[in-house]
Amino acid sequence: MRQAGRYLPEYRAMRANVDFLTLCKTPDLAAEVALQPIERFGMDGCVIFSDILIPVEAMGAPVSFGDAGPKLDRPVRTLADVERLRVPDPVESMPFTLDALRLARTALADRAALVGFVGGPFTLASYLIEGGGSKTYANTKQLLYSEPASMHALLAKLAQTIAGFAAAQVEAGAQAIQVFDTWAGELSPEAYEEFAVPYQAEVIARAKRAGVPVILFVNGCAGKLHAMMRAGPDVLSIDWRVELAAVRKQVGDGVALQGNVDPCVLLATPDAVTSSARAAMISAGPLGHILNLGHGVMPATPLECAQAFVDAPKSP
Ligand code: CP3
Repeated sequence: MRQAGRYLPEYRAMRANVDFLTLCKTPDLAAEVALQPIERFGMDGCVIFSDILIPVEAMGAPVSFGDAGPKLDRPVRTLADVERLRVPDPVESMPFTLDALRLARTALADRAALVGFVGGPFTLASYLIEGGGSKTYANTKQLLYSEPASMHALLAKLAQTIAGFAAAQVEAGAQAIQVFDTWAGELSPEAYEEFAVPYQAEVIARAKRAGVPVILFVNGCAGKLHAMMRAGPDVLSIDWRVELAAVRKQVGDGVALQGNVDPCVLLATPDAVTSSARAAMISAGPLGHILNLGHGVMPATPLECAQAFVDAPKSP
């Protein structure tokens, strides 16, 4: 999942001089930070450096990033707020990410596959409505249950924006697209079907038409696997709360799996990391599997544990 970040001394050194949004918007620095984990650890996929909230800003909702996570100055609460949001042209409004992809692709020279990404429509809607992160998503769910038409209007605008951005990333050199619908796992199965699946499907179809495989991540996905399949991804990215073997049994052979080691295992020892990585590979079985964490790297992760994770599939 998240590769660059605060567990890396070279990332912290960069951030000592450059704030997070400036880093996202400066193509040569964003490309450099995206390659830092590849240069140090040698993983097979390189995730471009950006944030899922960059397109939200381009829609007209300014975002700031502090120690407590992202904050939006003007949360969206009414249909009038939704109507004020634009559907931006990605090439005009987010050229920095597209340039960063071009630079990263050249610098990688086939050492690793370049992975672009977007946030899922529901997850971006939740940040817009809550004004930041949330434990309960009460404002988001209140709008969804009391004014479903307003929620659908917001999701439709987000899906259109994100789908266009995903296609533009492929044109700029991304070799796969990951859709992070991190918080859609908080929805009931019925609400997930109505408010997550159709909008994920729109984004996934557009990225696939652009010519690359698409990975779908939902945190807490155990009760949503069949619904995730209906959105049409090539790869399901699985969190650590469920066994990969159980997922494979439920979803059949037509999809690859990614995941799903608990990021907190990497706070322990290299030996613990190696055995958890091996257990995930065994549980995944013989069909397509991308070894990964079940969510993002924790900032306190020791470097030798990150290295043990990357080495686990390469050593006997
Ligand atoms: O993997 C990579 O290196 C690419 C970069 C990447 C970031 N954000 C950089 C980042 C990716 C793929 C994301 C996605 C993202 N951002 C998600 C979806 C995946 C997930 O983790 O669930 C979400 C929900 C966000 C929103 C977000 N951005 C949060 C909640 C936070 C703060 C808390 C945290 O975990 O760091 C951010 C800030 C952020 N985005 C940082 C980084 C490296 C830390 C900023 C810093 O340097 O201080």
